[in-house]
Amino acid sequence: MNMIIIGFGNVGQSLAEMLELRAPELRERYGLKVNVVAIVDRGGAALSEAGISLSEAVKAKRFRGSVSTMRGLGRPQLSALEVLEEVDGDIVIEVTSTSLETGEPGLTHIKKAISSKKHVVTTSKGALAQMLPDLIELANKNDVSLMFSGAVGGAMPILDFAKMCLRGEKVESLRGVLNGTTNYILWRMAERRIGLSQAVREAQELGYAEENVSYDLNGLDTACKLVILANWVINRRVSLKDVETRGIEELSLEEVLKAKEEGFAVRLIGSIKENLRVRPERVSLRDPLCVDSSLNAVVFTCRYSGQHVLIGRGAGGKETASAVIRDVLTIAQGFGWASSPKDVLNVNPKSVWATP
Ligand code: HSE
Repeated sequence: MNMIIIGFGNVGQSLAEMLELRAPELRERYGLKVNVVAIVDRGGAALSEAGISLSEAVKAKRFRGSVSTMRGLGRPQLSALEVLEEVDGDIVIEVTSTSLETGEPGLTHIKKAISSKKHVVTTSKGALAQMLPDLIELANKNDVSLMFSGAVGGAMPILDFAKMCLRGEKVESLRGVLNGTTNYILWRMAERRIGLSQAVREAQELGYAEENVSYDLNGLDTACKLVILANWVINRRVSLKDVETRGIEELSLEEVLKAKEEGFAVRLIGSIKENLRVRPERVSLRDPLCVDSSLNAVVFTCRYSGQHVLIGRGAGGKETASAVIRDVLTIAQGFGWASSPKDVLNVNPKSVWATP
């Protein structure tokens, strides 16, 4: 399977490291051989039909600033769109840092990749929150798959769980902690009695935060995830303007500590009921949403079977890369690049990307 990686920040580099580390396992267990034929970052691209050494690509990015500095393979200034025109890849991994307001540049990359009949795996919350129904339609029209399980919940398969495991149910509402950065910040403020700005710096150093950390703090990241969940899982045609959004920027250390004294924790909660809402709330210490560190948690309330809770790692390069590999495997198994191990249920990818 020939892969093109667009975006080589925290997630892209973690994916490269994981693909290299797990290559023997992917080959032995699934018969999958991933050949990365192009990597694009802000400085240009590296291209090789024979396959790029992923550890060399990570080194080039970390020490010289761009994969386009790779000897013999580097193409400074070559853009993602030019790569999508020039390179014959089977699957595109779109993990650029994308504006949550406009969905760009991820949106344009995804549309171009789909229109060139390439399968797409993306974590681009901005692009999906802007245009998920249209992108699904475009993928169906071009007979390729579009998967995005890392866009909500990081490593935790929130979307797959709701779409696959809860099929046959009716998800009536949900509440969740969907942003790892703010959860880490609120938890650290309460535990260590540190101010917001110090906790923000820590979350950035740990690689949880968006490149533009205000997306985490002002609730927009959570709002995007709610829009994706609402469209994909609950079948509601909503967009960002339908989400009443308040973040944690104004929250003081005093408020967080007062809540703690009174037996509560403050968490940034996203909810879908009659309305879509993001706001900091006091939650009881026994509430399943009262999770620590950068964890995410979601409670789905279903009409027939009641509540289901998922808790897991919602942010971080390695965590999100593991979700990308999950999607790559689903596509690879569905289209003949990989087989299913005998001990695993076979998933038909059509059921994943058919109309929501
Ligand atoms: N900044 C995001 C978060 C990354 O903290 O949850 C994962 O979407």
